[in-house]
Amino acid sequence: MGDLRQSVPASVRRRHLRRTFDARIDREWGRYAGEPRRVLVRHLRERFLRQHLPYGPGVVLELGPGPGRFSSTILGLSRGPLLAIDLSQEVLRRGQRRLGGDPRRRRVSWIQGAGEHLPLQDRSVGTAVVLGNIVCFAGTDGPRLLREIARVVRPGGTLVADFASPAAATQEFFEVVSRRRQLRRILRRPEFYLIHQILDSGYQPYLPRRLAAWEFQFYTVDSARQALVRAGFRVRDAMAVGAVGWTVGRIAASARREPRTWENLLRIEERIGRRPGALETGHGFLVAATRAARRRREPRTLPTKP
Ligand SMILES: C[S@@+](CC[C@H](N)C(=O)[O-])C[C@H]1O[C@@H](n2cnc3c(N)ncnc32)[C@H](O)[C@@H]1O
Repeated sequence: MGDLRQSVPASVRRRHLRRTFDARIDREWGRYAGEPRRVLVRHLRERFLRQHLPYGPGVVLELGPGPGRFSSTILGLSRGPLLAIDLSQEVLRRGQRRLGGDPRRRRVSWIQGAGEHLPLQDRSVGTAVVLGNIVCFAGTDGPRLLREIARVVRPGGTLVADFASPAAATQEFFEVVSRRRQLRRILRRPEFYLIHQILDSGYQPYLPRRLAAWEFQFYTVDSARQALVRAGFRVRDAMAVGAVGWTVGRIAASARREPRTWENLLRIEERIGRRPGALETGHGFLVAATRAARRRREPRTLPTKP
């Protein structure tokens, strides 16, 4: 069937994203609440942020905050201004309302904008938090989005981002469609439903008829690392989210019954999630990276023999 490339203009892709997220604000909030395995994902993300977000007065950029699931965690960790930039004005309003009378809200600027064209000066940000597969949603523009983030983060600054991996996404997709009794239909024609393409190249075009609701680029840990290095970051930590407890919901449900068992499950997840074999399982992976002093140059010519 070949590699289906159906990249639409970036402005069309972003409009589709904005309209979709405008219409599913509550669903976005619910993504990390309710079932214990969803809470597990949220807690692992918050703990990863806690491990990597510098405590201090530096400026933090939160790209794609959505309804603000992690905004208050960030405000609790940093002491400086928070720039919350999202394509959707609706979700920003929701984030703003959620902070309500919290005095920390004065530190937040809610800005409608695109990550690919950040309205910020070079090196003006200490830390960028880019959670919710924002780089993947940029499709073929992912490298451009990462370069733009690298432009605004000062050398030595931090990026915390997450990525969806082809293996984990296929497992999750199969689980979702099996609940809707569609799995056999898909397994009869996996190529039609882009399974092979996603596993080979990671690229998913926008093809709703084939259950592909977004243009999306999935990343392996290697391809994410390469994209980050090309943009000017050095990866210092990577961790799968919920390698143990995401897919088998009973594990999180059982652990959630006691604070001590919950804490121990989180610690086990953090250990297993950092093992190379586990990185592409679970609910995608998190990365913490440092902005290098200089972007690594690609060699212009092939090295010649001495
Ligand atoms: C999946 S939600 C993630 C929300 C939150 N960060 C979280 O992890 O729960 C994605 C959000 O990012 C925004 N978004 C996606 N791509 C973006 C881009 N290129 N620039 C700015 N915002 C973007 C969407 O509008 C949406 O609100």
